[in-house]
Amino acid sequence: MITIDGNTYHLQGDAYSYCFYVKNGKLLHGYYGQRLEKFVAVCDAPMDDFAAYEYGEFGRGDFRSPSIVVRDNGGIATDFQFVSHEILAIKPRIGMPQLRGEHQTLAVYLRDEKRGIKLTLFYTPLSQGLCRSAAIENESAESVFVDKFLSTCVDFPSGEYDILHLSGRPNKERDIVRERVSEGIKTISSTRGTTSHEHNCFCALLQPEANEEYGNAYGFNLIYSGNFAIETEKDALGQIRLNAGEQILYGGWELNAGERIYTPEVVCVYSAKGIGEMSRQFHTLYRKHLLDPRFVDKIRPIVINSWESVVYDVCEETMFRFIENAKGLGIDTVVLDDGWFGKRDNDDCSLGDWVVDKRKLPNGLQAIIRKCKENGMKFGLWFEPEMVSPDSDLNRLHPDWVLQSCHRESVQFRNQWVLDFSKKEVVDYVFASMKKVLDENDISYVKWDMNRPLTDVLNAKKYRAYMLGVYDLYERLTTSFPNLFIEGCSSGGGRFDPAILYYSPMIWTSDNTDAWSRTMIQHSTSLCYPLQSMSNHVSACPNIQTGRTISFATRGTVAMMGCLGYELHVENEEERVAVRMQTATYQKDADVILTGDLYRLKNPFTDGAFAQIVVSEDKQKAVFCYVRKDSEPTRGKIVERVCLRGLGEDVLYKAEETGEIQTGKTWMCVGVQLRLEKSDYACASLHFSAV
Ligand code: DGJ
Repeated sequence: MITIDGNTYHLQGDAYSYCFYVKNGKLLHGYYGQRLEKFVAVCDAPMDDFAAYEYGEFGRGDFRSPSIVVRDNGGIATDFQFVSHEILAIKPRIGMPQLRGEHQTLAVYLRDEKRGIKLTLFYTPLSQGLCRSAAIENESAESVFVDKFLSTCVDFPSGEYDILHLSGRPNKERDIVRERVSEGIKTISSTRGTTSHEHNCFCALLQPEANEEYGNAYGFNLIYSGNFAIETEKDALGQIRLNAGEQILYGGWELNAGERIYTPEVVCVYSAKGIGEMSRQFHTLYRKHLLDPRFVDKIRPIVINSWESVVYDVCEETMFRFIENAKGLGIDTVVLDDGWFGKRDNDDCSLGDWVVDKRKLPNGLQAIIRKCKENGMKFGLWFEPEMVSPDSDLNRLHPDWVLQSCHRESVQFRNQWVLDFSKKEVVDYVFASMKKVLDENDISYVKWDMNRPLTDVLNAKKYRAYMLGVYDLYERLTTSFPNLFIEGCSSGGGRFDPAILYYSPMIWTSDNTDAWSRTMIQHSTSLCYPLQSMSNHVSACPNIQTGRTISFATRGTVAMMGCLGYELHVENEEERVAVRMQTATYQKDADVILTGDLYRLKNPFTDGAFAQIVVSEDKQKAVFCYVRKDSEPTRGKIVERVCLRGLGEDVLYKAEETGEIQTGKTWMCVGVQLRLEKSDYACASLHFSAV
């Protein structure tokens, strides 16, 4: 809800209020936190360098990190003064992925008269969170350089806060880092042209005492897949400013006279009930307003992917055996990963040549697809659309299509270059070559991979234009093939962000398929992203990433807390029985796992155990899973007790596996007693139904 009273603005969702106001022509921040009935300004500070501003500027007495910097021959100081406001019936279309739907939006217009620059701040209050973005328009006669232009700025006038962010590397995506916001500036960012493995475009500011169940938590998540920056700054008075948005890299963005640009959207979620509630609000908001409505309530296909077991040794015989072995196991789709095209015997060639390698598959994909159908499964195919190998027909034909600057040879990573997706003809070509394969073959699923960062990019504009090219290709594919399911991937989970989720309802969470590593990766990813967005596979042991051997049951238990799939040759009868059981168990309650409310009960980073429960919206069903890292020397089986969360207090639930019936309150207060195998990485899972 948007309430405007004189010079005050009050935005409300189900459980939050966000207030700001105009004073002496400047926009000042009033309050962000628990929902209040009326507008409030926490500190009606004097208009000095310590005022809580709604959007930080540089050069006129606010010395904290600004949200906008615009440079021209006249200087860099801006003075944006309030002009007017408008309530728009529809959120503006910003030309890139954004929250879906036609929501009432407050537009606040500001102008720097001397410089002729117009700034608009957009606020869309949704039930679970506030969506913010901004636009800048050059109304002067000269071009200007935009050095910084972020989507959101929130000044927290008082209080200590921790910042929680997700930091990692390939195979160890999104480790949780939590630290006190201290004096000075801290920036979490990516300059890789992709969201990156190293930092995610999510952070939360937490009351220092906040935990899963308790305390104030403010989450921020940028809907963008390229360079980004999230800054926190604590000033001399202990005030904290949070700035978040796309990072405009060195040299700035030249904005010509008359031109306008939008920032990507940022989703701001507030919870007074701890980190768990913050996550659930993100999940609900993304289910309602971000994920593709065609897939959001659909069970994800259970896939078996060829990568870890077949690698580049793709051939008809191997694939036939792979498919036959997957028959009758409850698997929906066989995904043929890398190695099917060009002359791709290893990673040093053929990217860009999306033509079947007839040496390996003499009867084309059609023979493979026929085999899948005969065995009751559909077919999916891997592409890496944004890339080109130096050794490829595409590169020989169009060497000028590679991202390149200063007439230097572009940097190679994994023996590949990046195509210049800012050029329409490049996107046209890639779309046409993918379309040909998709038109000629019955393909229901594509895995879109992206295996290197961007280098040799000319300037900030080009970085954005590249991303827009990627979104354009996504748009064309999803429009031309409305039933096509596209899994996102980037050397594992290197591009796990809301903008990719807008098109890809599920993203490969990590190349690390070790079940214990995965408990951590999935736990941290769920801080912001819903379980239905995480693609998890049971793979062979010893695990190729960690060398660890973990039971098939535990591997399945972990993979089921999201979108279950497989990545191994199912060759013996024992495994066949296990897979059949797992897929049957999963399918029975997949809707609960994918659309229910998630409660994290144990934190694998700190508790030596992973435990989660997902409760259906109507509280009639729940799925619980548990994995314990180390075995303890005890007599008999290890007994562990875990208190559940999220159940209806007065509802009677039966635990299917044990037959025990208790009220939700009892399950939550007394807990479930788990009898675990005496081994490391022992697991348990329980399915609850209201009786
Ligand atoms: C990286 C992905 O994360 C893997 O799953 C696999 O698709 C390889 N690329 C193939 O090259």
